[in-house]
Amino acid sequence: MKVLVVGGGGREHALVWKIAKSPLVKEVFAAPGNAGIMEFAQTFPVAAEDVPGQVALAKKLRADLIVVGPEAPLCDGLVDALTEAGLRAFGPNAAAARIEGDKSFARDLCRRHRIPGPGFRSFDDVHQALAWLEQRGDLPVVVKASGLAAGKGVTVARSQKEAAAAVRECLERSRFGAAGTRVVLEDCLEGPEVSMIALTDGRTIVPLETARDHKPVFDDDEGPNTGGMGAVSPAPRLAQRLTGQIEREILLPTVHAMNHESRPFRGFLYAGVMLTQQGPKVLEFNARLGDPETQPLMMRLKSDIVPLLLATVDGELERCEAPEWDPRPAVCVMATSEGYPGSYPKGLEIRGLGGIERDDDLQVFHSGTARRGDQLITAGGRVLAVSALGNDLHAARARAYGALEKIEFRGRHYRTDIGAR
Ligand code: GLY
Repeated sequence: MKVLVVGGGGREHALVWKIAKSPLVKEVFAAPGNAGIMEFAQTFPVAAEDVPGQVALAKKLRADLIVVGPEAPLCDGLVDALTEAGLRAFGPNAAAARIEGDKSFARDLCRRHRIPGPGFRSFDDVHQALAWLEQRGDLPVVVKASGLAAGKGVTVARSQKEAAAAVRECLERSRFGAAGTRVVLEDCLEGPEVSMIALTDGRTIVPLETARDHKPVFDDDEGPNTGGMGAVSPAPRLAQRLTGQIEREILLPTVHAMNHESRPFRGFLYAGVMLTQQGPKVLEFNARLGDPETQPLMMRLKSDIVPLLLATVDGELERCEAPEWDPRPAVCVMATSEGYPGSYPKGLEIRGLGGIERDDDLQVFHSGTARRGDQLITAGGRVLAVSALGNDLHAARARAYGALEKIEFRGRHYRTDIGAR
């Protein structure tokens, strides 16, 4: 069969790598892809957000399966449009993807269905939001743009001044455009964070292995949040009983809640969960796989992913065998451009990849790379990541960092403590 993967980041590179291994697959395509994806798939310069362009491409290629990676096209109805065109598309439709695209909706959903989360209030009026903040007094407070803001719409405010400034950025200065016309003000949850992702067809859920993301840009969780500077799977020191509790108290009730509200969810349902003293609570939902969590997860997934994706689209997940996982841990470390998550240069030459031996235990997944003639160049804030398996975390880290140190570009930055604690 022919598979088209929509997107061009590290998550899509890892997906393409895994899908290309399937004996069911003859050809893999990606749009827009990146320089790393080109090694496994023919790429096409169609933006992930270009819904009519992606539908036209999928039809032209006669793709048997289209896998939509990023959140924006899911929220914009790409799966709806592909399905209407008679194509087999993996991912939630727009109504279901609202769980990520509208944080105010997701919080209300949790409240309606008693899914544990932080206390919160949503506002679209700046004066009401500021008055509530002043009256609340309690700090820190989390200020979130309700819509999609590419990971930049969240501020953990430690003072009233910071909270008020974040609210004004959204509601007055329109920093996030339409995504910031509503803000959600939440209690700040404390504890270790875990990413729990499940495949679901709306009836059956198949939880994947756990992962832990590292969002702040600098070591020891200092500095502003990024899309993710690295990830580890399984999430270290996470007791089995807690993963069971997260499945029972968060993932399953969410799938039921979405059915109850006539928004059946089919795809990867991602719960960012904080393990608080009062039990696991939802930090956020995503309607897709995490990036970079996908990279270590794909390294550990031993089963063919394609039958699982097809069964999800067809509502037949119940018939699939549980996926098999490599018990060894995987570590993924991201190399980023100087200045990220603020502004950063692009077009810098990347050297050293040829000196890295890649195999099933070590891969380099590209996030923001491109080709300029024979050169590999930077093309994004997150540039590429090394993912490695090892007999223990120490060995996986040593292998990932050993390879990453061979890759060079001007201003290259990475955290040195991914998986260290
Ligand atoms: N790594 C977090 C995310 O994908 O949203």
